[in-house]
Amino acid sequence: MKDILIKTPRLVLRPPTLEDAKDITRAKQEVWDQLQLWMNFAYDGEETHEATLKYLDITFSDLKNGYPHLLARHRKTGEFVCLTGATNCPDIDGGFATGYWVSKAYLGQGYATEATNAAIRYAFNALHAREMHISYFDDNEKSKRIIEKLGFEFLKTDQGAHARCLDGKPMDEHNYVMRDPSVLPDLDVRWEP
Ligand SMILES: CC(C)(COP(=O)(O)OP(=O)(O)OC[C@H]1O[C@@H](n2cnc3c(N)ncnc32)[C@H](O)[C@@H]1OP(=O)(O)O)[C@@H](O)C(=O)NCCC(=O)NCCS
Repeated sequence: MKDILIKTPRLVLRPPTLEDAKDITRAKQEVWDQLQLWMNFAYDGEETHEATLKYLDITFSDLKNGYPHLLARHRKTGEFVCLTGATNCPDIDGGFATGYWVSKAYLGQGYATEATNAAIRYAFNALHAREMHISYFDDNEKSKRIIEKLGFEFLKTDQGAHARCLDGKPMDEHNYVMRDPSVLPDLDVRWEP
């Protein structure tokens, strides 16, 4: 797959590399309590640097298959801001999935919305996505707000679909889809080449 470099007003997004590993581990550990509540990968042990390296291996193979994970750095500070992406949504022709988490220093400033808006535009326009999927677990009101703000359409709730990483509590999963990126809020997004 050709090199991916996506720019938004405040962020630069590209697939992560081994050079990002330390920053990812540090950021992950700073918000680990939140990730264990709301992300489906954040089991005990996944906060280690070793786990970051394994995760990066997955991103390299997903990228080869045409499904980029995207790491966003701040255009001014160069700091790690967010992980998002346009990854595989199995069993759906032209289906992609996205999600996000944000580093501590950049929370609450619209960065998840901005980064994911860019990832979705890239998926529809450059990767020929036909559907973008996203979901959140019960009570993650911030994520629900982002999903609705981006213009996703509610599909269904899967009762107890996920055992919360923190403690195994069963969580309902609320699933959404976007089939037309023109619903996205306006954003100046550019990519090369
Ligand atoms: C969820 C998360 C990604 C949000 O990142 P962020 O960059 O702070 O989010 P944004 O600033 O882009 O948007 C958050 C929105 O939720 C709103 N919000 C914040 N707290 C809220 C609450 N308790 N209830 C409802 N909405 C809330 C904000 O006001 C904002 O909406 P607005 O722009 O209309 O004001 C971040 O908290 C995170 O990384 N959480 C842990 C991982 C996670 O939950 N990932 C999502 C899994 S589905």
